[in-house]
Amino acid sequence: MSAEKTITIDQLKEHSKKEDLWILIHGKVYDVTKFLDEHPGGDEVILAEKGTDATEAFEDVGHSDEARALLPDMLIGTFKGDMKAAVTAAATEAKIAAQKINKPSQGAGAISYVLPLAFLGAYLAWRFYFSQ
Ligand code: HEM
Repeated sequence: MSAEKTITIDQLKEHSKKEDLWILIHGKVYDVTKFLDEHPGGDEVILAEKGTDATEAFEDVGHSDEARALLPDMLIGTFKGDMKAAVTAAATEAKIAAQKINKPSQGAGAISYVLPLAFLGAYLAWRFYFSQ
């Protein structure tokens, strides 16, 4: 059966035109080219998921069992690639970026208590000096 075919991220991306569109949902790749015009949600929303993992978008809509029953007819194969790694890498990058953004405020936080301490130290030294 053609369902045994494994599809890589490159192959998925090769089929990302309206006239030739593959979509990835739950680790399976579907040829939605002919279905695009029939999709009750319109073709734009499906086209927006080209070359990426459409699972979240598909599930967010809360598709009915009838919608899910249409999938097997469009099945081409199983996705075999590093989509998860790509997603994880993107998440890690976002985390690092967020940490970088937080750092200046942490620096300011340190200054905000170092400065009063320095003033306190100077004041105490001044008091000590004049109490002699
Ligand atoms: C091959 C994959 C897909 C199939 C077979 C499919 C099928 C359907 C069907 C049958 C409906 C009618 C309502 C229902 O029965 O749930 C529907 C509605 C909808 N679909 Fe999909 N869909 C697919 C992919 C997607 C994707 C990737 C999106 C992206 C966001 C999407 C967005 C929507 C939206 C927004 C509606 C609601 C339309 C409305 O009621 O106004 N669909 N879809």
